[in-house]
Amino acid sequence: MARETWGTRIGFILAAVGSAIGLGNIWRFPFQVSQEGGAAFMVMYLAFVLLIGFPAMLAEFVVGRKTELNAVGGIREFAGGMWSYLGGLFVFIGFVILSYYSVIGGWVLRYVVGSFTGGYVGTTAEGAPVAQQYFGQISTGMDTLLFHAIFMAIVIGVVAVGVKQGIELAVKVMVPAIFLIFGILAVYAFTLGGAGQAYAYYLSPDLGYILANWKSLVPAAAGQGFFTLSLGMGVMITYASYLDSDENLALDGVSIVALNTGISIITGLIVFPILFTAGIDPATSGPGALFVSIASALGDLPFGRGVGFLFFLTVFIAALSSAISLIEVVVSYAIDEFQIDRIKATSVAGIAIFLLGAPVTTDLVFVDLYDIFAAQILLVLGGVLLMISITWVNADQAVEELQKGIGDLGALGTLWIWMVRIPVVVVLLISLYLGITGYIEFLQGPFAEYLASL
Ligand code: PHE
Repeated sequence: MARETWGTRIGFILAAVGSAIGLGNIWRFPFQVSQEGGAAFMVMYLAFVLLIGFPAMLAEFVVGRKTELNAVGGIREFAGGMWSYLGGLFVFIGFVILSYYSVIGGWVLRYVVGSFTGGYVGTTAEGAPVAQQYFGQISTGMDTLLFHAIFMAIVIGVVAVGVKQGIELAVKVMVPAIFLIFGILAVYAFTLGGAGQAYAYYLSPDLGYILANWKSLVPAAAGQGFFTLSLGMGVMITYASYLDSDENLALDGVSIVALNTGISIITGLIVFPILFTAGIDPATSGPGALFVSIASALGDLPFGRGVGFLFFLTVFIAALSSAISLIEVVVSYAIDEFQIDRIKATSVAGIAIFLLGAPVTTDLVFVDLYDIFAAQILLVLGGVLLMISITWVNADQAVEELQKGIGDLGALGTLWIWMVRIPVVVVLLISLYLGITGYIEFLQGPFAEYLASL
């Protein structure tokens, strides 16, 4: 059977954008910003995306297009030797991330439904917005488990049908929709009383804060940078492997990074003005930041529930196109290496992922337990190993492949390789170390408290 390829040249960019844009931009980004002190995090995050994420993304593209293989086979062929085992880590990371990603995806579905029932708008008997209470109700419990199951069932359904029909179409609708709906909401947020305060918090960094908190800022920004760009677990290898033309990968990379970062920034411009206006301190808002802020704003807006429906539906499509890429790493591996049928591979992986995510529906502390582990440890570990295997083991081929569709890069090619070889790798190793120490503190602190309370 011939390997599938993208239906159109633009299909690859759209799919990569579809993978990149997701809950990482819309749910995770505002919650990381608020936990890490606002604008200070923004600075670190932007630096990571541009100086580390972008060159790392090119490295993944090169391996995928060169080998035309799944992430596991691709890195085995490209780097060989002991790097052949790296693929096992990618598949594991895919399982872990999708397992809780799907739970959050289920929350989003709950809000799509809530737009019809009106559950999240209005005020309580005491006059407080119901948004906070609604989030509390939907974020854990049996119904949360049910919606997690529904989300996974949809992912399995789409991926079982195949790459082309499933992903390209979703993205072509989603990206323009996000810019439109989010644009409108950002303008609305701009008119709110808390907007000025929010912009200062979000956009004007305090150097003193950065210096005092770099130990948590660095791993948080690294984790967010990898998470949001879908790097460190071979998604971009897998997607570039479906490319059959020699296009300009650097240009594609720039477009993907720019669109993805744009969506995150706009999301912050919506969420923070709303939180400040409602008098909610972002630092205390946690993983509910997005949901509570949007839901409480919708009550004020004309056609609020209609806007809410469109908003959450768009977020759902964004989440779905990212979830697809997560499971696709696992599925394309099973298909290429073991000749397992697509439908079977998708269903078995999907059910296993559902089970792994089930505990996350019992208490919000599990969101952190999975999320910090996945973003700040697994993706950064996967990323650093990938970068070493690509640029130290087989640099000549990497540069040669990148040049296809661009032309002779001259010194730029060497710059790219050396930039990844040393600064990127060193920064990632530092982030990884800080990520691990931070995670140990989390396990001994909040997670131990949770266990003690059982
Ligand atoms: N980038 C996706 C998002 O921001 C999540 C993701 C991470 C997808 C890693 C694939 C791999 O939502």
